[in-house]
Amino acid sequence: MGNVDKNKQVVKIVNEPDLDYQVKIYSRNAKIVDDSWDFRNSNTKDFTHCFHSYPAMMIPQVARRIIDNLGKKSKILFDPFCGTGTSLVEANLKGIDAIGTDLNPLARLIATAKTTKIDIQQLDLFINKYKDYIFSIDFDISKIYSEIIPDIKNIDYWFSKVTQQKLSLILKFIDDISEISIKNFFKVAFSETVRESSYIKSGEFKLVRCKNYLDKSEPDVFRIMLSRLLRNRIGLVEFVECCKNNAKTLVYDFNTINKIPSDILPAESVDIIVTSPPYGDSRTTVAYGQFSRLANEWLGYKEANKVDKILMGGERKNYITSFKSEILNDIIHIIWKKDKERALDVISFYEDYEKSIKNVSSTVKKGGFACYVVGNRTVKGVTIPNDEITAQLFEENNFCHIETIVRNIPNKRMPLKNSPSNIVGRTASTMKNEYIVIMSKN
Ligand SMILES: C[S@@+](CC[C@H](N)C(=O)[O-])C[C@H]1O[C@@H](n2cnc3c(N)ncnc32)[C@H](O)[C@@H]1O
Repeated sequence: MGNVDKNKQVVKIVNEPDLDYQVKIYSRNAKIVDDSWDFRNSNTKDFTHCFHSYPAMMIPQVARRIIDNLGKKSKILFDPFCGTGTSLVEANLKGIDAIGTDLNPLARLIATAKTTKIDIQQLDLFINKYKDYIFSIDFDISKIYSEIIPDIKNIDYWFSKVTQQKLSLILKFIDDISEISIKNFFKVAFSETVRESSYIKSGEFKLVRCKNYLDKSEPDVFRIMLSRLLRNRIGLVEFVECCKNNAKTLVYDFNTINKIPSDILPAESVDIIVTSPPYGDSRTTVAYGQFSRLANEWLGYKEANKVDKILMGGERKNYITSFKSEILNDIIHIIWKKDKERALDVISFYEDYEKSIKNVSSTVKKGGFACYVVGNRTVKGVTIPNDEITAQLFEENNFCHIETIVRNIPNKRMPLKNSPSNIVGRTASTMKNEYIVIMSKN
Protein backbone atom coordinates (compact mmCIF):
# COMPACT_ATOMS: atom_id res chain seq x y z
CA MET A 1 0.00 0.00 0.00
CA GLY A 2 1.21 3.59 -0.54
CA ASN A 3 1.58 6.56 1.83
CA VAL A 4 -1.63 7.75 3.42
CA ASP A 5 -2.15 11.49 3.67
CA LYS A 6 -4.55 11.65 6.61
CA ASN A 7 -5.72 15.20 5.96
CA LYS A 8 -6.73 14.55 2.39
CA GLN A 9 -7.65 10.88 2.88
CA VAL A 10 -5.66 10.25 -0.24
CA VAL A 11 -3.45 7.29 -0.94
CA LYS A 12 -0.56 8.30 -3.16
CA ILE A 13 0.46 5.67 -5.66
CA VAL A 14 3.81 4.44 -4.51
CA ASN A 15 3.09 0.74 -4.62
CA GLU A 16 0.15 -1.20 -5.90
CA PRO A 17 -3.05 -0.91 -3.87
CA ASP A 18 -4.32 -4.04 -2.16
CA LEU A 19 -5.65 -6.14 -4.99
CA ASP A 20 -6.89 -9.02 -2.91
CA TYR A 21 -10.53 -8.03 -3.14
CA GLN A 22 -13.46 -10.41 -2.97
CA VAL A 23 -16.26 -10.04 -5.48
CA LYS A 24 -19.33 -9.19 -3.45
CA ILE A 25 -23.02 -9.45 -4.09
CA TYR A 26 -25.12 -6.36 -3.44
CA SER A 27 -28.70 -7.51 -3.09
CA ARG A 28 -30.21 -4.07 -3.68
CA ASN A 29 -28.94 -4.31 -7.23
CA ALA A 30 -31.29 -7.12 -8.26
CA LYS A 31 -33.76 -5.21 -10.41
CA ILE A 32 -36.22 -5.89 -13.17
CA VAL A 33 -36.73 -3.55 -16.09
CA ASP A 34 -39.99 -1.63 -15.81
CA ASP A 35 -40.96 -1.10 -19.43
CA SER A 36 -43.81 1.24 -18.53
CA TRP A 37 -40.98 3.82 -18.26
CA ASP A 38 -39.77 3.24 -21.83
CA PHE A 39 -42.24 5.67 -23.44
CA ARG A 40 -41.49 3.91 -26.69
CA ASN A 41 -44.13 5.66 -28.81
CA SER A 42 -44.24 8.99 -27.00
CA ASN A 43 -43.53 12.31 -28.62
CA THR A 44 -40.33 13.42 -26.91
CA LYS A 45 -40.28 16.71 -28.81
CA ASP A 46 -43.42 18.39 -27.53
CA PHE A 47 -43.41 21.95 -26.13
CA THR A 48 -39.99 23.59 -26.24
CA HIS A 49 -38.38 20.15 -26.08
CA CYS A 50 -38.31 20.44 -29.88
CA PHE A 51 -35.48 23.02 -29.64
CA HIS A 52 -31.94 21.86 -30.45
CA SER A 53 -30.63 18.34 -29.90
CA TYR A 54 -27.95 17.66 -27.32
CA PRO A 55 -26.03 14.56 -26.23
CA ALA A 56 -27.63 12.31 -23.59
CA MET A 57 -30.80 14.37 -23.22
CA MET A 58 -33.31 13.23 -20.66
CA ILE A 59 -36.65 12.39 -22.22
CA PRO A 60 -39.38 14.74 -20.96
CA GLN A 61 -41.72 11.87 -20.05
CA VAL A 62 -39.27 10.63 -17.42
CA ALA A 63 -39.03 14.03 -15.72
CA ARG A 64 -42.81 14.47 -16.12
CA ARG A 65 -43.67 11.22 -14.39
CA ILE A 66 -41.17 11.78 -11.58
CA ILE A 67 -42.69 15.21 -10.92
CA ASP A 68 -46.23 13.79 -11.12
CA ASN A 69 -45.37 11.05 -8.65
CA LEU A 70 -43.25 12.99 -6.16
CA GLY A 71 -43.19 16.66 -6.90
CA LYS A 72 -46.76 17.87 -7.21
CA LYS A 73 -46.57 19.97 -4.05
CA SER A 74 -43.07 21.20 -4.80
CA LYS A 75 -42.22 24.87 -5.01
CA ILE A 76 -38.61 24.57 -6.16
CA LEU A 77 -37.03 22.01 -8.46
CA PHE A 78 -33.24 22.01 -8.85
CA ASP A 79 -31.26 20.43 -11.68
CA PRO A 80 -27.50 20.52 -10.94
CA PHE A 81 -26.63 19.26 -14.49
CA CYS A 82 -29.44 20.90 -16.37
CA GLY A 83 -28.08 20.57 -19.93
CA THR A 84 -30.77 21.88 -22.24
CA GLY A 85 -33.27 22.12 -19.41
CA THR A 86 -35.63 19.16 -19.89
CA SER A 87 -36.57 18.93 -16.22
CA LEU A 88 -36.74 22.74 -15.90
CA VAL A 89 -39.35 22.93 -18.69
CA GLU A 90 -41.34 20.14 -17.05
CA ALA A 91 -41.23 21.87 -13.66
CA ASN A 92 -42.52 25.13 -15.13
CA LEU A 93 -45.33 23.31 -16.95
CA LYS A 94 -46.46 22.08 -13.52
CA GLY A 95 -46.22 25.56 -11.99
CA ILE A 96 -42.99 24.80 -10.11
CA ASP A 97 -40.09 27.27 -10.06
CA ALA A 98 -36.88 25.78 -11.39
CA ILE A 99 -33.18 26.42 -10.89
CA GLY A 100 -30.59 24.86 -13.14
CA THR A 101 -26.85 25.03 -13.49
CA ASP A 102 -24.52 23.86 -16.24
CA LEU A 103 -20.92 24.69 -17.12
CA ASN A 104 -21.50 24.53 -20.86
CA PRO A 105 -22.59 27.97 -22.19
CA LEU A 106 -24.51 26.42 -25.10
CA ALA A 107 -26.54 24.25 -22.70
CA ARG A 108 -27.35 27.30 -20.58
CA LEU A 109 -28.46 29.24 -23.63
CA ILE A 110 -30.80 26.45 -24.77
CA ALA A 111 -32.18 25.85 -21.26
CA THR A 112 -32.87 29.56 -20.85
CA ALA A 113 -34.59 29.89 -24.22
CA LYS A 114 -36.71 26.80 -23.62
CA THR A 115 -38.08 28.18 -20.36
CA THR A 116 -38.61 31.81 -21.41
CA LYS A 117 -42.10 32.81 -22.40
CA ILE A 118 -41.98 35.28 -25.26
CA ASP A 119 -44.83 37.36 -26.56
CA ILE A 120 -45.57 35.50 -29.81
CA GLN A 121 -46.68 38.60 -31.70
CA GLN A 122 -43.42 40.31 -30.89
CA LEU A 123 -41.51 37.19 -31.90
CA ASP A 124 -43.37 37.10 -35.22
CA LEU A 125 -42.28 40.66 -35.94
CA PHE A 126 -38.67 39.57 -35.68
CA ILE A 127 -39.19 36.39 -37.69
CA ASN A 128 -40.77 38.48 -40.46
CA LYS A 129 -37.93 40.96 -40.19
CA TYR A 130 -35.50 38.08 -40.60
CA LYS A 131 -37.35 36.90 -43.73
CA ASP A 132 -37.18 40.42 -45.22
CA TYR A 133 -33.51 40.61 -44.30
CA ILE A 134 -32.51 37.37 -46.03
CA PHE A 135 -34.50 38.19 -49.15
CA SER A 136 -32.95 41.63 -49.30
CA ILE A 137 -29.40 40.31 -49.22
CA ASP A 138 -27.85 40.49 -52.63
CA PHE A 139 -25.44 37.64 -52.01
CA ASP A 140 -22.41 37.76 -54.20
CA ILE A 141 -20.22 34.67 -53.98
CA SER A 142 -17.31 36.46 -55.57
CA LYS A 143 -17.13 38.94 -52.71
CA ILE A 144 -16.16 37.63 -49.33
CA TYR A 145 -16.38 40.20 -46.59
CA SER A 146 -13.83 38.58 -44.32
CA GLU A 147 -14.02 41.47 -41.85
CA ILE A 148 -17.42 40.27 -40.57
CA ILE A 149 -16.36 36.64 -40.10
CA PRO A 150 -15.53 35.92 -36.46
CA ASP A 151 -12.16 34.57 -35.45
CA ILE A 152 -12.84 30.85 -35.14
CA LYS A 153 -10.16 28.17 -34.79
CA ASN A 154 -9.72 26.19 -38.05
CA ILE A 155 -12.80 27.81 -39.54
CA ASP A 156 -11.91 26.72 -43.10
CA TYR A 157 -11.70 23.12 -41.95
CA TRP A 158 -15.33 23.17 -40.82
CA PHE A 159 -17.16 25.58 -43.16
CA SER A 160 -17.03 26.60 -46.79
CA LYS A 161 -16.23 30.27 -47.44
CA VAL A 162 -19.80 30.90 -48.61
CA THR A 163 -21.25 29.35 -45.46
CA GLN A 164 -18.90 31.41 -43.28
CA GLN A 165 -20.15 34.52 -45.02
CA LYS A 166 -23.83 33.59 -44.65
CA LEU A 167 -23.51 32.61 -41.00
CA SER A 168 -21.78 35.93 -40.33
CA LEU A 169 -24.65 37.81 -41.96
CA ILE A 170 -27.17 35.99 -39.74
CA LEU A 171 -25.04 36.76 -36.71
CA LYS A 172 -25.09 40.43 -37.66
CA PHE A 173 -28.90 40.32 -37.73
CA ILE A 174 -28.98 38.67 -34.29
CA ASP A 175 -26.52 41.20 -32.85
CA ASP A 176 -28.95 43.97 -33.73
CA ILE A 177 -31.81 42.44 -31.69
CA SER A 178 -31.96 44.32 -28.41
CA GLU A 179 -34.66 42.25 -26.67
CA ILE A 180 -32.66 39.57 -24.86
CA SER A 181 -35.31 36.81 -24.84
CA ILE A 182 -35.81 37.13 -28.60
CA LYS A 183 -32.08 37.31 -29.15
CA ASN A 184 -31.66 34.03 -27.23
CA PHE A 185 -34.45 32.41 -29.23
CA PHE A 186 -32.62 33.34 -32.44
CA LYS A 187 -29.25 32.23 -31.05
CA VAL A 188 -30.60 28.73 -30.37
CA ALA A 189 -31.82 28.40 -33.98
CA PHE A 190 -28.49 29.83 -35.12
CA SER A 191 -26.51 27.23 -33.17
CA GLU A 192 -28.35 24.44 -34.96
CA THR A 193 -27.78 26.21 -38.27
CA VAL A 194 -24.05 26.33 -37.55
CA ARG A 195 -23.99 22.60 -36.95
CA GLU A 196 -26.14 21.69 -39.94
CA SER A 197 -24.26 23.85 -42.41
CA SER A 198 -20.83 22.70 -41.27
CA TYR A 199 -18.79 19.72 -42.48
CA ILE A 200 -19.44 17.86 -39.20
CA LYS A 201 -20.25 14.21 -39.82
CA SER A 202 -23.97 13.77 -39.28
CA GLY A 203 -25.12 11.71 -36.32
CA GLU A 204 -21.79 12.30 -34.62
CA PHE A 205 -21.55 14.08 -31.27
CA LYS A 206 -17.77 14.33 -31.43
CA LEU A 207 -16.17 16.92 -33.65
CA VAL A 208 -15.42 14.81 -36.71
CA ARG A 209 -15.44 16.07 -40.30
CA CYS A 210 -17.33 13.97 -42.83
CA LYS A 211 -15.13 12.26 -45.39
CA ASN A 212 -16.91 13.49 -48.50
CA TYR A 213 -17.22 17.10 -47.38
CA LEU A 214 -15.98 18.44 -50.72
CA ASP A 215 -18.79 16.63 -52.57
CA LYS A 216 -21.48 18.24 -50.45
CA SER A 217 -23.57 20.90 -52.11
CA GLU A 218 -23.55 24.36 -50.51
CA PRO A 219 -26.10 24.34 -47.69
CA ASP A 220 -28.99 26.80 -47.87
CA VAL A 221 -27.89 28.46 -44.66
CA PHE A 222 -30.57 31.19 -44.55
CA ARG A 223 -33.35 28.64 -45.05
CA ILE A 224 -32.00 26.21 -42.46
CA MET A 225 -32.12 29.08 -39.96
CA LEU A 226 -35.66 29.99 -40.97
CA SER A 227 -36.92 26.42 -40.69
CA ARG A 228 -35.41 26.09 -37.18
CA LEU A 229 -37.00 29.39 -36.15
CA LEU A 230 -40.42 28.26 -37.39
CA ARG A 231 -40.20 24.82 -35.79
CA ASN A 232 -39.14 26.28 -32.45
CA ARG A 233 -41.90 28.88 -32.67
CA ILE A 234 -44.50 26.06 -32.77
CA GLY A 235 -42.99 24.52 -29.63
CA LEU A 236 -42.88 27.88 -27.90
CA VAL A 237 -46.55 28.60 -28.69
CA GLU A 238 -47.47 25.25 -27.14
CA PHE A 239 -45.32 25.99 -24.07
CA VAL A 240 -46.75 29.48 -23.57
CA GLU A 241 -50.33 28.20 -23.93
CA CYS A 242 -49.90 25.28 -21.50
CA CYS A 243 -47.81 27.15 -18.99
CA LYS A 244 -50.29 29.75 -17.82
CA ASN A 245 -48.74 30.18 -14.39
CA ASN A 246 -46.05 32.38 -12.89
CA ALA A 247 -43.43 29.66 -12.56
CA LYS A 248 -39.96 30.84 -13.50
CA THR A 249 -36.63 29.27 -14.32
CA LEU A 250 -33.20 30.66 -13.51
CA VAL A 251 -30.16 29.11 -15.16
CA TYR A 252 -26.69 29.54 -13.62
CA ASP A 253 -23.12 28.47 -14.18
CA PHE A 254 -22.05 27.52 -10.67
CA ASN A 255 -20.18 24.27 -10.17
CA THR A 256 -21.75 22.08 -7.50
CA ILE A 257 -18.41 20.31 -7.06
CA ASN A 258 -17.05 23.43 -5.39
CA LYS A 259 -19.91 25.21 -3.65
CA ILE A 260 -23.54 26.13 -4.09
CA PRO A 261 -24.10 29.88 -3.70
CA SER A 262 -26.36 30.29 -0.68
CA ASP A 263 -27.94 33.45 -2.09
CA ILE A 264 -29.24 31.35 -4.99
CA LEU A 265 -30.02 28.13 -3.13
CA PRO A 266 -29.96 28.39 0.66
CA ALA A 267 -29.56 25.17 2.68
CA GLU A 268 -32.72 23.03 2.73
CA SER A 269 -34.59 25.15 0.19
CA VAL A 270 -35.17 22.60 -2.59
CA ASP A 271 -38.20 20.30 -2.72
CA ILE A 272 -37.04 18.03 -5.50
CA ILE A 273 -33.99 17.41 -7.63
CA VAL A 274 -34.53 15.87 -11.06
CA THR A 275 -31.32 15.51 -12.99
CA SER A 276 -29.28 13.34 -15.33
CA PRO A 277 -25.60 13.78 -14.48
CA PRO A 278 -22.79 12.79 -16.86
CA TYR A 279 -21.83 9.10 -16.71
CA GLY A 280 -18.13 9.79 -16.73
CA ASP A 281 -15.59 12.36 -17.87
CA SER A 282 -16.09 13.94 -21.29
CA ARG A 283 -12.87 12.50 -22.68
CA THR A 284 -13.89 8.88 -22.29
CA THR A 285 -17.70 9.19 -22.36
CA VAL A 286 -19.85 11.98 -23.83
CA ALA A 287 -17.95 15.00 -25.14
CA TYR A 288 -20.41 17.80 -24.40
CA GLY A 289 -17.74 20.41 -25.05
CA GLN A 290 -16.76 19.02 -28.44
CA PHE A 291 -20.39 18.78 -29.45
CA SER A 292 -20.89 22.45 -28.61
CA ARG A 293 -17.53 23.92 -29.61
CA LEU A 294 -18.31 25.41 -32.99
CA ALA A 295 -21.61 26.93 -31.89
CA ASN A 296 -20.03 28.24 -28.69
CA GLU A 297 -17.27 29.89 -30.77
CA TRP A 298 -19.68 31.46 -33.26
CA LEU A 299 -21.71 32.78 -30.35
CA GLY A 300 -18.60 34.35 -28.87
CA TYR A 301 -18.31 32.27 -25.70
CA LYS A 302 -14.65 32.59 -24.81
CA GLU A 303 -14.47 29.36 -22.82
CA ALA A 304 -15.58 27.32 -25.89
CA ASN A 305 -12.37 25.29 -26.08
CA LYS A 306 -12.16 24.53 -22.41
CA VAL A 307 -15.63 23.12 -21.69
CA ASP A 308 -14.68 19.43 -21.55
CA LYS A 309 -11.78 20.18 -19.20
CA ILE A 310 -13.97 21.93 -16.65
CA LEU A 311 -16.79 19.36 -16.59
CA MET A 312 -16.95 16.57 -14.03
CA GLY A 313 -13.84 14.40 -14.14
CA GLY A 314 -12.20 16.76 -16.65
CA GLU A 315 -9.23 17.38 -14.42
CA ARG A 316 -7.26 14.16 -14.28
CA LYS A 317 -6.07 13.00 -10.84
CA ASN A 318 -2.86 11.02 -10.46
CA TYR A 319 -3.55 9.49 -7.08
CA ILE A 320 -5.98 6.96 -5.74
CA THR A 321 -8.38 7.84 -3.01
CA SER A 322 -11.05 5.96 -1.15
CA PHE A 323 -14.71 6.82 -1.45
CA LYS A 324 -17.66 6.66 0.88
CA SER A 325 -19.21 4.06 -1.38
CA GLU A 326 -18.02 0.54 -0.66
CA ILE A 327 -19.08 -0.72 -4.06
CA LEU A 328 -17.16 2.09 -5.80
CA ASN A 329 -13.97 1.22 -3.93
CA ASP A 330 -14.39 -2.41 -4.96
CA ILE A 331 -14.97 -1.52 -8.59
CA ILE A 332 -11.92 0.73 -8.70
CA HIS A 333 -9.76 -2.09 -7.41
CA ILE A 334 -11.09 -4.44 -10.07
CA ILE A 335 -10.43 -1.91 -12.85
CA TRP A 336 -7.03 -1.10 -11.36
CA LYS A 337 -6.02 -4.72 -11.79
CA LYS A 338 -6.83 -4.47 -15.48
CA ASP A 339 -5.64 -0.96 -16.32
CA LYS A 340 -4.26 1.65 -13.92
CA GLU A 341 -4.79 4.59 -16.26
CA ARG A 342 -8.45 3.77 -16.74
CA ALA A 343 -8.85 3.35 -12.98
CA LEU A 344 -7.49 6.89 -12.59
CA ASP A 345 -10.10 8.15 -15.11
CA VAL A 346 -12.81 6.60 -12.97
CA ILE A 347 -11.33 8.02 -9.77
CA SER A 348 -11.11 11.50 -11.31
CA PHE A 349 -14.78 11.44 -12.18
CA TYR A 350 -16.06 10.05 -8.88
CA GLU A 351 -13.99 12.41 -6.77
CA ASP A 352 -15.93 15.26 -8.36
CA TYR A 353 -19.22 13.35 -8.26
CA GLU A 354 -18.91 12.63 -4.54
CA LYS A 355 -18.21 16.30 -3.76
CA SER A 356 -21.12 17.42 -5.91
CA ILE A 357 -23.52 15.03 -4.16
CA LYS A 358 -22.40 16.31 -0.76
CA ASN A 359 -23.11 19.92 -1.76
CA VAL A 360 -26.32 19.16 -3.63
CA SER A 361 -27.65 17.15 -0.66
CA SER A 362 -27.41 20.15 1.64
CA THR A 363 -29.84 22.14 -0.54
CA VAL A 364 -32.69 19.63 -0.15
CA LYS A 365 -35.41 20.06 2.48
CA LYS A 366 -36.13 17.31 4.99
CA GLY A 367 -38.59 14.98 3.26
CA GLY A 368 -37.51 16.34 -0.15
CA PHE A 369 -36.39 14.12 -3.01
CA ALA A 370 -33.28 13.60 -5.12
CA CYS A 371 -33.98 11.79 -8.40
CA TYR A 372 -30.88 10.95 -10.42
CA VAL A 373 -31.25 9.38 -13.85
CA VAL A 374 -27.98 7.56 -14.45
CA GLY A 375 -26.33 5.06 -16.76
CA ASN A 376 -24.02 2.22 -15.79
CA ARG A 377 -21.11 2.39 -18.15
CA THR A 378 -18.49 -0.25 -18.74
CA VAL A 379 -14.77 0.34 -18.29
CA LYS A 380 -12.36 -2.39 -19.36
CA GLY A 381 -15.24 -4.84 -19.47
CA VAL A 382 -16.34 -3.99 -15.93
CA THR A 383 -19.78 -2.48 -15.44
CA ILE A 384 -19.75 0.43 -13.02
CA PRO A 385 -23.00 0.27 -11.03
CA ASN A 386 -23.49 4.02 -11.02
CA ASP A 387 -27.05 3.64 -9.71
CA GLU A 388 -25.84 1.80 -6.64
CA ILE A 389 -22.92 4.18 -6.14
CA THR A 390 -25.26 7.18 -6.40
CA ALA A 391 -27.59 5.69 -3.79
CA GLN A 392 -24.70 4.94 -1.44
CA LEU A 393 -23.22 8.43 -1.78
CA PHE A 394 -26.59 10.02 -1.01
CA GLU A 395 -27.05 7.69 1.97
CA GLU A 396 -23.80 9.11 3.33
CA ASN A 397 -25.46 12.52 3.17
CA ASN A 398 -28.55 11.81 5.22
CA PHE A 399 -30.76 10.44 2.45
CA CYS A 400 -32.56 7.13 2.29
CA HIS A 401 -32.90 5.16 -0.90
CA ILE A 402 -36.53 4.67 -1.91
CA GLU A 403 -36.29 2.78 -5.16
CA THR A 404 -34.38 2.43 -8.40
CA ILE A 405 -36.46 2.12 -11.53
CA VAL A 406 -34.75 0.51 -14.51
CA ARG A 407 -35.92 1.59 -17.94
CA ASN A 408 -34.92 0.51 -21.42
CA ILE A 409 -33.39 3.09 -23.68
CA PRO A 410 -35.72 2.37 -26.60
CA ASN A 411 -33.61 3.64 -29.47
CA LYS A 412 -31.02 0.95 -28.80
CA ARG A 413 -31.58 -2.60 -30.02
CA MET A 414 -32.00 -4.84 -27.02
CA PRO A 415 -33.88 -7.80 -25.57
CA LEU A 416 -37.19 -6.88 -23.91
CA LYS A 417 -36.29 -8.21 -20.48
CA ASN A 418 -32.91 -7.43 -19.10
CA SER A 419 -31.94 -8.21 -15.55
CA PRO A 420 -28.79 -6.23 -14.75
CA SER A 421 -26.05 -8.09 -13.00
CA ASN A 422 -25.95 -7.93 -9.23
CA ILE A 423 -22.37 -8.98 -9.02
CA VAL A 424 -19.65 -6.40 -8.78
CA GLY A 425 -17.18 -6.74 -11.54
CA ARG A 426 -19.26 -8.89 -13.83
CA THR A 427 -18.59 -7.97 -17.40
CA ALA A 428 -21.55 -6.59 -19.30
CA SER A 429 -22.55 -5.26 -22.69
CA THR A 430 -23.10 -1.64 -23.73
CA MET A 431 -25.59 0.68 -22.02
CA LYS A 432 -29.10 -0.43 -22.78
CA ASN A 433 -30.73 0.77 -19.61
CA GLU A 434 -31.17 3.89 -17.61
CA TYR A 435 -31.58 3.84 -13.84
CA ILE A 436 -33.86 6.29 -12.10
CA VAL A 437 -32.52 6.43 -8.56
CA ILE A 438 -34.98 7.94 -6.10
CA MET A 439 -33.87 9.04 -2.67
CA SER A 440 -35.47 11.05 0.09
CA LYS A 441 -33.85 13.31 2.70
CA ASN A 442 -34.23 12.15 6.32
C1 LIG B 1 -26.54 14.21 -19.37
S1 LIG B 1 -26.28 15.92 -19.65
C2 LIG B 1 -27.79 16.64 -19.08
C3 LIG B 1 -28.84 16.61 -20.12
C4 LIG B 1 -30.13 17.26 -19.68
N1 LIG B 1 -30.84 16.48 -18.70
C5 LIG B 1 -31.00 17.48 -20.89
O1 LIG B 1 -32.06 16.86 -21.00
O2 LIG B 1 -30.59 18.26 -21.78
C6 LIG B 1 -25.13 16.35 -18.40
C7 LIG B 1 -24.77 17.81 -18.33
O3 LIG B 1 -23.92 18.02 -17.22
C8 LIG B 1 -23.10 19.10 -17.51
N2 LIG B 1 -21.99 19.10 -16.53
C9 LIG B 1 -20.92 18.28 -16.46
N3 LIG B 1 -20.18 18.60 -15.37
C10 LIG B 1 -20.81 19.61 -14.75
C11 LIG B 1 -20.57 20.33 -13.54
N4 LIG B 1 -19.52 20.10 -12.79
N5 LIG B 1 -21.45 21.29 -13.20
C12 LIG B 1 -22.52 21.57 -13.96
N6 LIG B 1 -22.81 20.92 -15.10
C13 LIG B 1 -21.96 19.94 -15.48
C14 LIG B 1 -22.71 18.92 -18.97
O4 LIG B 1 -22.32 20.13 -19.57
C15 LIG B 1 -24.04 18.39 -19.54
O5 LIG B 1 -24.78 19.42 -20.09
